Amino acid sequence: MFLTSIHLRQFRNYAEQSVAFSAPKTILVGENAQGKSNLLEAVELISVMKSHRTSRDRDLVQDGHAQGQITATIDHGPPEATAAMGVRMTLRASGRRTTVLNGETLRRQLDLLGTLNTVQFSSLDLELVRGGPAHRRDWLNGLLVQLEPLYAHLLQQYGKVLRQRNALLRKADKDESGLPIQDLSASLAVWDAQLAALGTRLIRRRARALERLTPLAQQWHEQISGSREALRICYRPSVAREQPEQWDSPELLQASFLEKIKQRAIAEQVNGTSLVGPHRDEVDFLIDETPARQYGSQGQQRTLVLSLKLAELTLIDEVIGQPPLLLLDDVLAELDLNRQNQLLDAIQTRFQTLITTTHLSAFDAQWLKSSQILTVEAGKIIMP
Ligand SMILES: Nc1ncnc2c1ncn2[C@@H]1O[C@H](COP(=O)(O)OP(=O)(O)OP(=O)(O)O)[C@@H](O)[C@H]1O
Ligand SMILES: [Mg+2]
Repeated sequence: MFLTSIHLRQFRNYAEQSVAFSAPKTILVGENAQGKSNLLEAVELISVMKSHRTSRDRDLVQDGHAQGQITATIDHGPPEATAAMGVRMTLRASGRRTTVLNGETLRRQLDLLGTLNTVQFSSLDLELVRGGPAHRRDWLNGLLVQLEPLYAHLLQQYGKVLRQRNALLRKADKDESGLPIQDLSASLAVWDAQLAALGTRLIRRRARALERLTPLAQQWHEQISGSREALRICYRPSVAREQPEQWDSPELLQASFLEKIKQRAIAEQVNGTSLVGPHRDEVDFLIDETPARQYGSQGQQRTLVLSLKLAELTLIDEVIGQPPLLLLDDVLAELDLNRQNQLLDAIQTRFQTLITTTHLSAFDAQWLKSSQILTVEAGKIIMP
């Protein structure tokens, strides 16, 4: 896939700006707070329809304006080699966004998925290793919606059921000691069934994706660490923790999901929230069998995140048959020359890459030679 151009209108600190991408690599250089990450965020939005920086469209629209717009053209290469695709997303300070794909307004927004696939890598991604489980679930979701757009629909439905179920649990009356007064299990049953059915489908898809991602991540990890350390990725769904073989059977998995809900019934009523399901899943990264989260050094954690990102890139390429875009926000200068070069070797010219930086001096000369370099200054992009 190749993003050939993007046009921003009243988006973040951009009033009106067009950018034409003319090389496989584009470096966006500028001082702090000029709009480098904002541009990457616009690409992220038309790719996965979410920004990792905000969940409110109001923040994305330029201050003082009612709406903002991102317009982009994307080429898909062989085998499907379509004519250029056109996307226009209109964001509103209040109200829903609208998305137009090739001239047609999408009735279901999620149908945009697959138009532009991306892998993001920013300095924040160290949180993937260091942060809480929610970071890893978000990461997994972001990858899965690109691998199989059906996953996005399932996730959306699961979220709805979860919210309804939580509302019911929250409303339950409790006595002074915080214990539930009435037994909610009858009214919860209908939600339990839906939660387990949808949850099972999410869990199985997560397990499958991690199964395919792991060997790729291991290969990259071996290469970057010089085979010194072994990486293991361990998926731990909040149901069926002990028997991975259950994942092959949706019936067994669903039964154990419902069983787990039963076990946690009192705890759920006391806490007033759902405690079982993919929204509670965890993924462990182990380096030489020790959790990277607690014991990994900075360097080990960086190597791990870089391996995961490269694995995502190759997995999407493999599954979709089109290379995704790579978005590198502020991260390249943080890698030492060896890791920079590993990354360069990995992406070659196959993956279109957008890179932000405050200083070109941090880059290997090789990168600079083959790149389009754009300067970002106060919401304007200056082409050379
Ligand atoms: N809705 C908005 N309307 C107008 N300006 C905005 C809006 N949202 C953010 N900004 C401005 O955008 C700027 C931040 O842009 P961005 O995050 O892209 O910076 P950056 O160039 O990536 O900087 P850094 O090098 O620090 O990461 C800030 O000055 C901020 O005030
Ligand atoms: Mg930035």
